[in-house]
Amino acid sequence: MVSPVWLLLSLAIIFSSTVSAFSGNFKLTNMTVFSPSQSSANSTEGSYVEFNFGDEDTAQIGPIHCCVQWAVNASPPTTWPGSCDNDTFAVLVSSWNGVQDLTLDLQHTYIDNSVGEYPYNVLTKFANLSLAYPSTQYYDCDMSKAECQGSSAITAVVTSSTA
Ligand SMILES: *[C@@H]1O[C@H](CO)[C@@H](O)[C@H](O)[C@H]1NC(C)=O
Ligand SMILES: *[C@@H]1O[C@H](CO)[C@@H](O)[C@H](O)[C@H]1NC(C)=O
Ligand SMILES: *[C@@H]1O[C@H](CO)[C@@H](O)[C@H](O)[C@H]1NC(C)=O
Ligand SMILES: *[C@@H]1O[C@H](CO)[C@@H](O)[C@H](O)[C@H]1NC(C)=O
Repeated sequence: MVSPVWLLLSLAIIFSSTVSAFSGNFKLTNMTVFSPSQSSANSTEGSYVEFNFGDEDTAQIGPIHCCVQWAVNASPPTTWPGSCDNDTFAVLVSSWNGVQDLTLDLQHTYIDNSVGEYPYNVLTKFANLSLAYPSTQYYDCDMSKAECQGSSAITAVVTSSTA
């Protein structure tokens, strides 16, 4: 028979596999945020956030294209799947006050044998990025068109991970 103490110990080991074994941040390139209806009340065009998602820890993969879009008068989607061309990368527009003030929640999942043995070698890293104009470096907006562009790579600092 399995003793309760042993069960508790096993659970403790499972939960302690939440690690902080990462060093690299996320790099977002070619950022474009566009919301025509924000600058032109009659516009029927939807809004989108589009960029290339790179992870400094997996430089061999190369940036993955991500795009989140939603219809005019709608809110950004609340689910992650399909936001990036490679499903191990994902983005959620978690707050939206217009092209000049939004938040992206970002995640990337990959195999990292340094965090544990199979099946505990799957690492997911998380970052939240606030994009604000004019305060965010390399985030430039033309408010007359409600269109913003990254003028250089924008760093999203990874603040947590699970394995
Ligand atoms: C950014 O977009 C330009 C033009 O579409 C492309 O040539 C370039 O490779 C892209 N850069 C990155 C890092 O994705
Ligand atoms: C927007 O719509 C209003 C009424 O529906 C109209 O009066 C106005 O001319 C339109 N503006 C543009 C720029 O099309
Ligand atoms: C998707 O990304 C993962 C790492 O996150 C990589 O192992 C895999 O090869 C990529 N898939 C494609 C089709 O590029
Ligand atoms: C990002 O923000 C969400 C709320 O939108 C929060 O639940 C999550 O813990 C945050 N993640 C990080 C890595 O700070």
